[in-house]
Amino acid sequence: MKRLTMLTAATVIATTAGCSVSNDYTPVAGNTGEEIFSSACIDCHTPDGSYIFEISPEKANVEAIATIISKGEMVMPAFPNIQGAELTAISEFVLAKNRPAEPEEDEATEAASEKTD
Ligand code: HEC
Repeated sequence: MKRLTMLTAATVIATTAGCSVSNDYTPVAGNTGEEIFSSACIDCHTPDGSYIFEISPEKANVEAIATIISKGEMVMPAFPNIQGAELTAISEFVLAKNRPAEPEEDEATEAASEKTD
């Protein structure tokens, strides 16, 4: 319970400070990505249907996601204590819950057909 209160406090600080902060959450060895997500991430990242994230295509890979988690990014806090197998597990979970980018072709095709009308 105490842990949850502290996490909530950290969330408030992170949200209001507007700069990168460090979160001292430490996963239990062998935790799955989903377990880590439910403990450390769900307060800020709410699932929307079957997806949670919308990551720009150039960052939608395990390495880039692991870097964001380790180092933070603007409002996103850094999680320096998530490392090794747990960092891989949470990064893979994030990627699995990432909404794939919309194919831009659709819009272009629509615009083109509007012009010829
Ligand atoms: C205090 C709130 C907060 C917590 C806790 C938090 N995040 Fe974030 N996260 C954010 C915000 C806000 C962003 C938006 C991007 C930014 O500010 O750069 C973000 C961005 C991200 C991104 C990049 C998305 C993109 O489109 O570039 C990833 C990946 C991510 N978070 C993963 C996680 C994971 C995994 C955890 C748990 C270990 C976590 N976050 C915990 C607030 C949080």
